[in-house]
Formats: sequence, structure tokens, C-alpha cells
Amino acid sequence: MPAGTFHILTFGCQMNVNDSLWLARSLRRLGFVETPLEHAEVTILNTCSVREKPEQKVYSALGRIRHATRGTPGAFAVVAGCVAQQIGAGFFERFPQVRLVVGSDGIAMAPQAIARLCDDPNLRLDYTLFSESYPERDPALSGAPGETPGPIAYVNIMQGCDNFCAYCIVPYTRGRQKSRATGAILDECRAALDNGAKEITLLGQNVNAFGLDAHGDPGVSFPGLLRQAAALPGLERLRFVTPHPKDFSPETTALFADLPVLCPRLHLPLQAGSDAVLTRMRRRYDRAGYLRLVEELRRARPDLALSTDIIVGFPGESEADFQETLDMLDAAGFMSSFSFVYSDRPGTKASRFPDKIPPEVKAERLDRLQERQEILSEQWLAGMVGRETTVLLEGPSRKADLPPVAPETDSPKSPSTALTGENKSESWQGRDPWGDAVNVRLPKGVGAPGMLLPVRLTAAKRHSLLAEPVKPLDQGEKP
Ligand code: 5AD
Ligand code: SF4
Repeated sequence: MPAGTFHILTFGCQMNVNDSLWLARSLRRLGFVETPLEHAEVTILNTCSVREKPEQKVYSALGRIRHATRGTPGAFAVVAGCVAQQIGAGFFERFPQVRLVVGSDGIAMAPQAIARLCDDPNLRLDYTLFSESYPERDPALSGAPGETPGPIAYVNIMQGCDNFCAYCIVPYTRGRQKSRATGAILDECRAALDNGAKEITLLGQNVNAFGLDAHGDPGVSFPGLLRQAAALPGLERLRFVTPHPKDFSPETTALFADLPVLCPRLHLPLQAGSDAVLTRMRRRYDRAGYLRLVEELRRARPDLALSTDIIVGFPGESEADFQETLDMLDAAGFMSSFSFVYSDRPGTKASRFPDKIPPEVKAERLDRLQERQEILSEQWLAGMVGRETTVLLEGPSRKADLPPVAPETDSPKSPSTALTGENKSESWQGRDPWGDAVNVRLPKGVGAPGMLLPVRLTAAKRHSLLAEPVKPLDQGEKP
């Protein structure tokens, strides 16, 4: 008899996705069964409030959930994540179906709380207090037998952020920075590798400030953690996200030359290219400093792929300021960027700044920025064609735009079979070390999730690459 049925809806960043995966594993361990929304007794809404109108999004999702689960007796909702942290018990008044609110630090206790709520229909719980130290979760739950987590694992190394960038709500919703104990991080990495992971991404809001707070283990810095993680047996690829330019130490930069498993890809948020805007944003680096760091990183790893986050239309941003941001796309040579229009977040310093930029100006600047980035991204992908590298296969490809494996011998065939090489081959998707999405066609039965396949990149599509195995493979043969 299952303990209950559940469904999880996730908004926001990779940390939220990771929290949702952990929550799902924990609930399954407690005997809960995951179902489509209509049959779920417990619906968990994992929320994000970094941008736009997150509360409205959550309120309308709660309305939809209520409607969808109206035929399920005793159905209730849980609100987790940043919006839960912001609104807290306020949800109980507006939405009677909400019986649990959990903030960032409360997630660790959520599975047991949900089980209690199922047993006691009169109970409501509010877990939005911040804890004193990193809220460690049940480690046995990551990589439980029977789970198929795939070849890529994400491991949290810290919670929260102390930077208080003027536009950002994270320090308020995720709390102050708390590094996690190194032993717990490495144990979770080992469990993921034992369970078939080949690639690990270390996660946090400001990863390279790891160890600089009063929590975690004294004496272990971010580069020290990277070295220890890189040495774990079975690890093929190591990544981390998100670092802050101001906390990037020369020691970490040097690791791009020293650690072969550290992928040549870095997401390094720039936010703006004008010094005046960077100062008002409280980013604590300038344009020249950012470019110097890029140069040092490229000296350590000449093929480094850089991506970034950019905000356009920060209060007071002039056309000249914006031009400097636009110029930075070329100067730093970003292979991709996530760009956003500035939006006021409650309680932040920038929300009280004068000189707000009109929405149409923000939208027009965003268009121009994205147009330029699109060209740079296409150039990046075109420049990859011809390289030999490896692809970590993740799963069957959703796209059917791959050429058939050559040479095809069984003729005649219908045009659609000729196009897809149907019957004899199948396409797989994965990523190269630079993080490009790659599709590769393999004879049937050869590919498997987690396989590190030597390939030649053969063509660039709009947002991905096509590849072929370096060594021709026959059906049933392993590379
Ligand atoms: N408005 C627009 N974008 C924002 N971001 C964070 N706060 C805001 C805001 N108030 C963007 C930043 C950050 C990314 C996760 O979201 O670029 O790096
Ligand atoms: Fe927000 Fe700045 Fe912290 Fe990033 S570093 S989470 S932008 S406050």
C-alpha cells in the first residue's frame, strides 16, 4: 500500500531542479508513488523568484493544480523554494489547499513533513526558518538502488549568498552563504559515481567563495575542493556553476591547465559591460578586470568556452552604457549568453533606485543583444566543425535531422527511411566537453547513456552540432 501519490512542478535554476530530484527520490523511499498531476494527493510546487512576476506565476499554478486535482480526495499542495521563503505562512490564508511551505533550508525536512501531513489532515506546517549551518540531507537517498539518475550528477556545495548584488533577491530568499562540509560533498559525489554518473557539476550561488564563510570545514578552499573532486575514481568530467568574477583566484584559474577532467567551459556572469553600471550593481569588478580574468583563463586553457548572464536596462543604464555591454560580447567572445531585462525584486537596493528604464527601451536593447549573441553563437558552432573530441551520451535524440550512417546498403528505400537511416541506426544526444549539444547517429544497439564516445564534429546546426564516431562502428560493437 503506497504512503500516497505525488507530483512535482519545478520552476527556476539547476539548484531547484536538483532539490526536486532529491525530494522525489526521498518520497519514493518513504513509499510514495509519482503520478500525473490529476491523480496526485500531494503536489509540490518548487518555485523561483529571481526574475519577472514569480508570485503571479505561482498563484496561477496553484489555481490550475486545484482544478486538476479536484477529483482526488484529500489532495493538498506544498510550496517550496524562493517564493515559499518570501511569502511563508501567507500562503495558508490565500490558498486553503496549501498545507506546507518550505524554504531553501527546510527542504531537508520536507519528506518527513509530507508524511506527517498525510497522516494528520488537520496539520499545516511552515518550514521557512533559516538554519545555522548547511542543512545536510539524508545521504543514503542519493543514488538509491533502482534509481536511474543518468550519467550527469549535480552536487550542492553551498547554500545562499552574501554578495547582495543590488538587483538580486537570492540573499533574501536563500539566506546567507553556508558552505557544506567537504566530506559530505565528496561522499555524495562518490555515491553518484558508484551509481553510473560520469560527469559531476558542483552547484552553488557563488561557488568560488566556497569555504570563505564560517561554515563547512576550515582550511578547504574552492580550488582545494576541485582538486579532491577531480581525483575521484570514475569521474570523467567535472564542471561547476556559478562562480563570481571577483572571487576567481589565480589558483582556480590554474586548475584549467592542471586538471584534465575539468571541462574547458566556464559560465562567468558579467551582468553589464559598463563600469558605472557594474558599480551601481555592486558587482565589485570592472570591465578591465573581467577581461583580464578572461585572458588569464584563456592562457591556462586556450580552448576555453565562455558563457555568461547579462541584465539589460538596469536603472540609469544609458545607451552608451548598453553599447559597452554589447561590445563585451565580442571582447570576451561568449559562445552563449542568458540575457534578461532588469526587473525590480522586492527588498533589493536597486528596486529603490530612480531612473528606471522604460519597458520598450529594455525590450529593444534585449533584442539587439540577443541578435549579436546569436551571430557569435553560430560562429562558435561553425568553428567547432572538424574537431575530434568526445561526446558523453545522455539518451536517444529527439531530433530526426541527422544524416544516415554511411554507407547505407539496403536499397531501395522510402524517402523517409533514406533520410533517417531507420531500422539500422538511431540517433543519440549528448554534450562535448565545451558543453555544446551534439547529436550523433549510431548503429542500433551500440549507444548507451553514460558512454564516452570519440567523435568527429561534422556540421553545425542552429543551436547544436552533428557528429560521427571517429571509428566506424558495427551493430553490437562497443567503441
Ligand atoms: N532582473 C533581471 N535579471 C536578474 N537576474 C537576477 N536578478 C535579476 C533581476 N532583478 C539574472 C542575473 C543572474 C541570473 C540568474 O538572473 O543575470 O545571473
Ligand atoms: Fe545574486 Fe549576486 Fe549572489 Fe549571484 S552573486 S546570487 S547575483 S547576490
